[in-house]
Amino acid sequence: MSASRTTVVRGLATAVGIVSLVSITGLATAAPGDPGKPRFTAGSAGVGDTYFPYAGNGGYDVSHYDLAVDYTPPAPAPAPLEGQFSGVATIDLTATADLDRFNLDLRGMSVSAMTINGKPATGIAPPAPGAEVDGAAYWHVQDDAARRWELTVQPRPKLKKGQRARLVVTYGGTTTRPTDIETAPYGWYTTRDGAIVVSEPDGSMTWYPVSDHPRDKATYSFRITVPEGKVAVANGLPDGPPVTANGRTTWSWDAVDEQASYLTTASVGDFEVRPVTHSASGVPIHDFVDSKLSPSRRTTTNASLALQPRMIDFFESRFGPYPFSSYGSSVDDDSVGYALETQTRPVYSGQAVQGTVAHELAHQWLGNAVSPKDWKDIWLNEGWATYATWLWNEENGIRTAQAAFDSWYAPARTPEYWALPIGDPGPMGLFATQVYNRGAGTLHALRLTVGDEAFFEGVQTWVQRYDDSTATTADFQAVYEEVSGQDLDAFFQEWLATAAKPSLP
Ligand code: TRP
Ligand code: ZN
Repeated sequence: MSASRTTVVRGLATAVGIVSLVSITGLATAAPGDPGKPRFTAGSAGVGDTYFPYAGNGGYDVSHYDLAVDYTPPAPAPAPLEGQFSGVATIDLTATADLDRFNLDLRGMSVSAMTINGKPATGIAPPAPGAEVDGAAYWHVQDDAARRWELTVQPRPKLKKGQRARLVVTYGGTTTRPTDIETAPYGWYTTRDGAIVVSEPDGSMTWYPVSDHPRDKATYSFRITVPEGKVAVANGLPDGPPVTANGRTTWSWDAVDEQASYLTTASVGDFEVRPVTHSASGVPIHDFVDSKLSPSRRTTTNASLALQPRMIDFFESRFGPYPFSSYGSSVDDDSVGYALETQTRPVYSGQAVQGTVAHELAHQWLGNAVSPKDWKDIWLNEGWATYATWLWNEENGIRTAQAAFDSWYAPARTPEYWALPIGDPGPMGLFATQVYNRGAGTLHALRLTVGDEAFFEGVQTWVQRYDDSTATTADFQAVYEEVSGQDLDAFFQEWLATAAKPSLP
């Protein structure tokens, strides 16, 4: 036992008394029948996600991230497509275990300073496994091949379970174009005129230190400083007007509703700031549209965004009250190849088309208010968002949900298509087409099985019960068994887990 650990044991014994001294001593020597676990742990390098073992972290719960970012987009071509990024992340957390160490996720950036409860920690090279480190310290392991990015923090004094801590991390780097496990672009995606920031499932770690998993939701505040003339758009509501000094403008945002890390955005571009509109229920809608869209894309985008107030009204009638304090879209002329339902403010690539606008809006209830507890549960997001567009199209006389179901179900498809179990599609199958359309088909089949009344009561119960939280497919099945009084084991087994075309209910 090192001198520093002896000191800690003695310090604790003084604080908590003789009984604990006996038990701590016992732990250190592993009495018979005692697992010999030290009282203080190193947290864990992941929350236990089935597909992303190093996403998120264990041992603490973040309540708030305050992100102060300074960003300069690339110079005009032929300059390299790289941005200059520096940040200060202030992270408020509560230990959920007695912590000797704990981890954050941070990828492609480097940390230059850290304080823990106002006291500086020393940046060191990663110590050998099991080695003791003196004093408050941090170190960073970045293993691209293993997709393992871990910033380890050693707080001193150690953190006791229930204790709060404020971590201030000064960091930065050169931004490029990170890719997800399937090689799709995500994270802080550098564009010539700014950045598109979309991070599903684990890309937020490309631009701030984070416990990067939906199981640790938190509120956020942002101050994003960019060259004068650029607009920075994050989640939530503006926290005062933009402030310009010395040729740089700071855009401040306040995201008051807890959000999963993959739903954080802070896109930078040449956005027009559109006038605020409202849903019938009073949700303020702030849109930001790239001033460089072509006339035809602008026309499509304007028509689609103009439907947002009515779409909110409609989805409120089906899913219950809009779950957050604000809404609005950002539309970039550049593209990552997809849209993302970033919380309160979806991001669109190139243009916003009606079906996608309905899809990303529906995610605010289904995916954002209630998020997947494990990435394996992704069908709960994509099935619902796809089904929501079927409902929207029916409401607007475009096509009934039954017709949409039929046009998915009737055509002959390959055995490979039916072979993907959407209840466990694998990390490379998260955004497979089957997750979307078999997911929506599953919901329509569920509706036919339990009836309209139980179906819509079920979705409202689901959103209310797991609002600001995460849930699993088993939780979802339990809600529908409750509202319908039916045993749905065989139903969900066939629709989510069977590698064959499901039969009609
Ligand atoms: N979640 C997005 C949506 O359906 C889609 C998405 C996220 C995606 N990452 C992706 C699609 C990567 C294709 C590739 O709204
Ligand atoms: Zn989606």
